[in-house]
Amino acid sequence: MEKTRRLLERALGPSKVLTDADACRSYAGDESDQDPVLPDAVVLASSPEDIQKALVVATEAGVPIVPRAGGSGKSGGAVPVAGGIVVSTLGMRQIKEIDRSEQIAVVEPGVILADLHAAVEAEGLFYPPDPNSLKMCALGGNIAENAGGPRAFKYGVTREYVLGLEVLLVDGTRLRTGRRTVKGVTGYDVTALLVGSEGTLAVTTEATLRLIPKPPAVVTLLALFADVNACGAAVQGIVAAGLVPRCLELLDEATLDAVRASGVGVDARARALLIIEVDGEPLACESAMERVGNVCAEAGSIEVLVAQDEAQRDRLWEARRQLSPATRAMAKFKISEDVVVPRGSLVELIVETRRISEATGVRVLTYGHAGDGNLHVNFLWDDPAAIPRVEDALDRLFRKVISLRGTLSGEHGIGTSKSAYLPLEQSPELIDLQRRLKATFDPQGLLNPHKIFPRASHRAC
Ligand code: LAC
Ligand code: ZN
Repeated sequence: MEKTRRLLERALGPSKVLTDADACRSYAGDESDQDPVLPDAVVLASSPEDIQKALVVATEAGVPIVPRAGGSGKSGGAVPVAGGIVVSTLGMRQIKEIDRSEQIAVVEPGVILADLHAAVEAEGLFYPPDPNSLKMCALGGNIAENAGGPRAFKYGVTREYVLGLEVLLVDGTRLRTGRRTVKGVTGYDVTALLVGSEGTLAVTTEATLRLIPKPPAVVTLLALFADVNACGAAVQGIVAAGLVPRCLELLDEATLDAVRASGVGVDARARALLIIEVDGEPLACESAMERVGNVCAEAGSIEVLVAQDEAQRDRLWEARRQLSPATRAMAKFKISEDVVVPRGSLVELIVETRRISEATGVRVLTYGHAGDGNLHVNFLWDDPAAIPRVEDALDRLFRKVISLRGTLSGEHGIGTSKSAYLPLEQSPELIDLQRRLKATFDPQGLLNPHKIFPRASHRAC
């Protein structure tokens, strides 16, 4: 490693290379439950050339190299589990272009999502993905993980907005994929493959993003239900009525109790809650709001409240955004899953999470993106001795999800936290095909190693 550090300093200059353990510590972990691992060196890239130099050193020295943007990932994607070099792209924060008539933005990977939102919205445009961490997550990580979030129900996830990429391969080769046009079917869709590849195939140095017009009006509703079945019926009813709210978020009873315990007043009768948001032209919004309200009432809601102004909306969303950090603060240990099931099986899954909690004694709170069938099932515990019971709970959850024809990750990725479970969902043939793709991009296995794929030490599922 000493030689690698020397090579990095020679290639990049000492000011861009951190080697001191204390300085490297903030690049050791992410927002997942994965144990942090100290990298041997951190490169603070301010240009594609800096990343390229770091990649060339890693390839020559045969050491692992892990790209990192905001570090807000939830599955260990940015954790340098095999040590080596972390390349931080957070210094590359330029929004290079916002083109109103083409409706595209060109960004560097370190652009913070909230900054992109503000910049495009000032132009009357809209970039819908928002994984609820917009003040700290950056586009490079959003692209690596194919970030989703509450608005995905109407607008889709990050992949739907990435038209083209400029990337570096692990040997330093620089190339462009995709396009600047809305349409384009030339060759394989390498851009789509790279989005969501969790930093294992290439490092993003620039992204061309599709924008849409900013919806002129937004209305946010809160629907309270006395039981989760009525709440599930409302979700089904809204979709069946042909309504497409931009968000359809669910909080279960345990989550509501936690919200109450944090001092936020929620009607004592409510045992499930939906945050529903509709957007569009003002008149269309009003009619959608009324229809959503009616569907909720038919499904047996206790009450439907409408946010009265922007400040009320902001407070509501701030409370929703804080759910993840707030639940993390509720216990010494937390695992947050992001499983997905067909919408019609949401209630069955929530009931199962209660059963799992009772059977294993592990505290479980569930909330998430009901419209997408995508739930964050949070396991909380304080005593490290509970880990076998937590593993049992996870196993039960994943098996249930697969039996309901769901998928293990809707938006956080597999990373290291779910890699052992990949064979539960995917066939050996499919995993092998993906391993061969990885080997084509990265024959030495140096780029973000030990992510996605199960390791030999993993127990068979
Ligand atoms: C959320 C993140 C954790 O939905 O995905 O809050
Ligand atoms: Zn989420």
